[in-house]
Amino acid sequence: MNIKLFTRSLALIAVILMNIALLTSFSNGIELNKGDENGEILTPVPKPEPRINGPLVYGCRPGHPFLYRIPCQGERPIKFKIKGLPAELKLDPATGIITGTVPRKGVYEISIMAKNEAGKDSRKLKIIAGDQPALTPPMGWNHWYAHYDRITDQMMREAAEVMITSGMADVGYQYVNIDDCWMNAEKNNDPLRIGPLRDDKGNINPNKHFPDMKGLTDYIHNKGLKAGIYTSPGPRTCGGFAGAWQHEEQDAKQFANWGFDFLKYDWCSYGELAGENVTLEGYQKPYKQMGKILTSQDRDIVFNLCQYGMGEVWKWGGEVDAHCWRTGGDLGFELDRIFDVALKNAQIGQYNKAGEWNDPDYIQIGWIGNAGKMGIPELTPMPANMQYAYMSLWCLLAAPLIYSGDMSKLDDFTLNILCNPEVIAVNQDPLGKCATVIQRDKECFIMIKTLVDGSTAVGLFNRGKNQADVSVDWSELKISGDHHVRDLWREIELGASADKFSAAVPAQGVVMIRVSK
Ligand code: GLA
Repeated sequence: MNIKLFTRSLALIAVILMNIALLTSFSNGIELNKGDENGEILTPVPKPEPRINGPLVYGCRPGHPFLYRIPCQGERPIKFKIKGLPAELKLDPATGIITGTVPRKGVYEISIMAKNEAGKDSRKLKIIAGDQPALTPPMGWNHWYAHYDRITDQMMREAAEVMITSGMADVGYQYVNIDDCWMNAEKNNDPLRIGPLRDDKGNINPNKHFPDMKGLTDYIHNKGLKAGIYTSPGPRTCGGFAGAWQHEEQDAKQFANWGFDFLKYDWCSYGELAGENVTLEGYQKPYKQMGKILTSQDRDIVFNLCQYGMGEVWKWGGEVDAHCWRTGGDLGFELDRIFDVALKNAQIGQYNKAGEWNDPDYIQIGWIGNAGKMGIPELTPMPANMQYAYMSLWCLLAAPLIYSGDMSKLDDFTLNILCNPEVIAVNQDPLGKCATVIQRDKECFIMIKTLVDGSTAVGLFNRGKNQADVSVDWSELKISGDHHVRDLWREIELGASADKFSAAVPAQGVVMIRVSK
């Protein structure tokens, strides 16, 4: 063998050995699945130094009150600074809360800096003052699946408090939303929820568990968070409480005056008014009306339609000025079907776009009350792996991330699912794309979502009862050549590969990666 051929063969052998090493390190070397079955916490504990999280774009309407608490992990005290902030906006350097009013339409590019004793971080944010207040999927908490008709002002305040102390707000959770049952009803088991539905002037009465609505939203706003409320276009809500029928404008004004930033508008008894064989126009009517009313208020109110997907709402939700819309019934009744629900939502993913979101309902993990019985919260029986899959699916779908479990009982495992900034960044990506699906077999599928920096988020899912090997070729991502792979749940680099990624995916679980040049 001549020297040239010998060196060439050596090089070839070296390349083959490197590739073998790479592949085995993907499937074995980093023990991708170890411990998931036992509920292992994969999200690294936040470091002491600041890490600024949150979206890269933030939408608001000019002339309206502005409120944004910079989501930032790290040990307090942290000192915040901003370059490029319009004069009409003020930053509280100790809390990172920005308030004021954006004067004119336009794009304001700001640089946020955060510093503490352990280190510093900086990040750019585009404030886009235009027509859209929800340029990335809304993130927050809603009381329904934890507290049902037991909700009180005190519980709402506690939820806001915990959103801060638990670190949820530091990764972007923002809305603290009341669902049904804050008004009066004609009949109810709880005498404190019975009373006149409206006052002499027709204003809606909160029930005795909500003595001071303005006080409640002030409390939430003072923490830099936002407040949400709920009603129905019908005479009664789904829980039998006073709805907005024939008082739509008056109620919307009241919500704005109280200081609410989000409205869930739930079809419920409106069905009796709409009658049978509802036309498309009939489905749209109450939402069109409320959309107009909300847009004319002097504050930004995110409009969340809840009518279970009727009339293919994803095709027209944006036209009635909504920002997100439920695509199906109550997920609380089908928590064993989250994979099916997610796949169904992916099929209508083309209707998802920045500012207009398909909403497959809330994240129900941790302590939740059985939906069928409106039960007292208990620890979810959902396997740990499936909880990782659940959150990964919602992030890849670009679904609103609204947690709906008991905030007073948040444990480390649940918080690790809810609060991984790299997983959340996939959800909050400014392109606002919903993932597409590549089906592998009956049990395994892959979801792919293109991100703003040209990288791709990939979820390898296994709904089966046994661990399964799943791999994705770069050609399926429409990329070629060396690409870096990052394990998002563990926040670690897995190295580079020239052609594919393979992993053993845990039963009913996920491996979620980001592939970048
Ligand atoms: C409907 C909605 C739920 C919840 C309840 C309240 O079922 O779909 O999300 O708001 O009403 O009664």
